[in-house]
Amino acid sequence: MSDLAAYESAYITHEDVIGDVAGYRRPYYKTQPEYLYPPYRSTIKRAPTRSLVWLPHTLSEITGPVFGYDDVKPDDADLTRQHSGEPLGERIIVSGRLLDENSKPVVKALIELWQANAAGRYRHDVDDHDAPLDPNFTGGGRVLTDAHGNYRFITIKPGAYPWRNHYNAWRPAHLHFSVFGIGLAQRLVTQMHFPGDPLISYDPMFNSVPDDNARQRLISQFDWEGTIPDFAIAFRFDIVLRGREQTFTQSTRS
Ligand SMILES: [Fe+2]
Repeated sequence: MSDLAAYESAYITHEDVIGDVAGYRRPYYKTQPEYLYPPYRSTIKRAPTRSLVWLPHTLSEITGPVFGYDDVKPDDADLTRQHSGEPLGERIIVSGRLLDENSKPVVKALIELWQANAAGRYRHDVDDHDAPLDPNFTGGGRVLTDAHGNYRFITIKPGAYPWRNHYNAWRPAHLHFSVFGIGLAQRLVTQMHFPGDPLISYDPMFNSVPDDNARQRLISQFDWEGTIPDFAIAFRFDIVLRGREQTFTQSTRS
């Protein structure tokens, strides 16, 4: 065998690696924000000015980082116990399930949360909002989903804050979520809002999602069952990621 033939026989092609591994469905029509939504001013600067390139999902998109349980401590999900004292504000419980688009739970996925404090101030160098920091509140937490895709945080209800997008612009109270899922094409950064907040309907960021049902999925639901008497009220927020593009096969036993 020539050197070239030996090389070619040993060389693993792209197709060899990818095989018939299924990708993910593309987002459903109008469920994601437009890249350019002028009322949300930052999109004017960062929206693509050229047509997008359609990339196939390959192994690097359909797989992702794996997090061990020892990377995340149980207390990381309780933002009220990260300092010597208790933070100011309304204590809340936020929980939900992480599902793929086929309603299968996504297990052992890293969910990160960051937020402003009860006064609407982030502990961040570029936040110059004239509102007090809370020495007992950092505003960051993380958790791994359990075997059923459940997650749960204890935190403080964040305050609204001004953001200078337009005259008298106020962000509704919200929590930022980052979810890694089980593949990089599932990586999701989103925001959870609170039911009944009058600022939601004025918010260009919220309104940049064209589909009304998709917008409503950004609002949590009051969770009476999750409320703990004499401790905290609760909100429920399920998060749906892309799923494998596959048809489930019938069980061989049925
Ligand atoms: Fe924010």
